[in-house]
Amino acid sequence: MHQLPKQFPEMDYLTFLLAILHVHKALCEEIFWDTAVKFAENMTLECVYPSMNSFTQIEWFKIHGVQKKFIGIFHPTHGVVLREPYDKRLHLLNSTTAPNKVILSFYNASEADVGTYSCLFNVFPRGSWEKKIRVVQSDSFETAAPLNCHVVSESGKNVTLTFQLQADWPVQQVTWEKIQSHQIDLLACCNLSQGRSYTSKYPRQILSNCSQDSRRSSILILNTTASDSGLYRCRFTAHSGENETFVAKLTIIDGKWATNVFQGQKQKKVNH
Ligand SMILES: *[C@@H]1O[C@H](CO)[C@@H](O)[C@H](O)[C@H]1NC(C)=O
Ligand SMILES: *[C@@H]1O[C@H](CO)[C@@H](O)[C@H](O)[C@H]1NC(C)=O
Ligand SMILES: *[C@@H]1O[C@H](CO)[C@@H](O)[C@H](O)[C@H]1NC(C)=O
Ligand SMILES: *[C@@H]1O[C@H](CO)[C@@H](O)[C@H](O)[C@H]1NC(C)=O
Ligand SMILES: *[C@@H]1O[C@H](CO)[C@@H](O)[C@H](O)[C@H]1NC(C)=O
Ligand SMILES: *[C@@H]1O[C@H](CO)[C@@H](O)[C@H](O)[C@H]1NC(C)=O
Ligand SMILES: *[C@@H]1O[C@H](CO)[C@@H](O)[C@H](O)[C@H]1NC(C)=O
Ligand SMILES: *[C@@H]1O[C@H](CO)[C@@H](O)[C@H](O)[C@H]1NC(C)=O
Repeated sequence: MHQLPKQFPEMDYLTFLLAILHVHKALCEEIFWDTAVKFAENMTLECVYPSMNSFTQIEWFKIHGVQKKFIGIFHPTHGVVLREPYDKRLHLLNSTTAPNKVILSFYNASEADVGTYSCLFNVFPRGSWEKKIRVVQSDSFETAAPLNCHVVSESGKNVTLTFQLQADWPVQQVTWEKIQSHQIDLLACCNLSQGRSYTSKYPRQILSNCSQDSRRSSILILNTTASDSGLYRCRFTAHSGENETFVAKLTIIDGKWATNVFQGQKQKKVNH
C-alpha cells in the first residue's frame, strides 16, 4: 500500500485531484458537450467510464444554465432511484456487457427533454468523472457533412487520419468528431494556446497530437474493428472564428477481404 506523506493528508490529495479534473475541463472552453444526440421519442444516452475502477454511485442530471436538476441515481448494491416525472418516461439501466457503463433510456420523451444532460461517476479514490450529453432537435447529422476523402482499411490494423490546413490564418483550436446519423461524439479537442488537449469521454481510445505543428492534425485509431467505420470530422478554428472543416469516411473491412488501402484526393472546403 502506498502511504501518503504526512504533509499531504488524504483530503488534500483528493482536493488536488479534483482541481486537476477541473483544469482539464477548462481547456477547451468552447466545448460544453461530449456527445450530441438527435432528439427522438425513444433515445438512449450512454456513459462509459474509461476503466474498471470500482465506483460508489452514478448520478444523472439535467443541466439548466448553472443549475443541475437531479434525474436519478444508480448504486451497485442499492439499485436505481428515479425522480418524478422522469420515472414516467425513462429507465436507468446498468449494462449487461460492461459494469462501467450506464444508460439512460427514454421511452416517451417530449420536446421538454431537449437540453443538456450530465452523468457523474463517483470513483474511489480518483474523484468524480463527468460526461455531458446534449440532446438536440436535428435532421440526420450525416447530411451536414460533405466528404473530403475515403479511407479503407482492414480490421485489426491501426489507422491514422491526417488533415493539413490550407488557409494561412493562425489556428487556435482543432477538434475531431465521429459523426453518425443520430449522434456526434467529440474525440479530441486541442487548444493550441495551451498546447494541451481535452480528455475525451469517447469509450474507444483515440490518440491525437496537440503539437506545435498546428497546420497538420491527426488521430490514431488502434486495432480497428468494423464499428470504427463511419465519418470523422476535423475542424480547425481561428481566434477570429474563421474555420476549415474536413471529413473523412472510414471503412473497415474484414481482414480476409481487404486487397488494398487507398486514400482519396484530399480536397478542402473553406468556410468564409
Ligand atoms: C484556449 O485557451 C486559452 C487560454 O486558457 C483561452 O483563453 C481560450 O479561450 C481557449 N480557447 C478555446 C477555443 O477554448
Ligand atoms: C418507442 O418504443 C415503444 C416501445 O418499445 C414503441 O411502442 C413506440 O412505437 C416507439 N416509438 C417510436 C417513435 O419509435
Ligand atoms: C445491475 O444492478 C443491479 C443492482 O441494481 C445488480 O443486481 C445487477 O447485477 C447489475 N447488473 C450488472 C450486469 O452489473
Ligand atoms: C407518453 O406521454 C404522454 C404525455 O406526455 C402520455 O399521454 C402517454 O400516455 C405516454 N405514453 C406512455 C407509453 O407512457
Ligand atoms: C498498432 O499500434 C500499436 C501501438 O503503437 C502497436 O503496438 C501495434 O503493433 C500496431 N499494430 C499494427 C497492426 O500495426
Ligand atoms: C504525434 O507526433 C509524434 C511526433 O511528431 C509522432 O511520432 C506520432 O505518430 C504522432 N501521433 C499521432 C497520433 O499522430
Ligand atoms: C484487437 O481487437 C480484437 C477484437 O476486438 C481483439 O480480439 C484483439 O485482442 C485486439 N488486439 C490488440 C493487440 O489489442
Ligand atoms: C465556421 O464558419 C462558418 C462561416 O463563417 C460559421 O457559420 C460557423 O458557425 C463556424 N463554425 C464554428 C464551429 O465556429
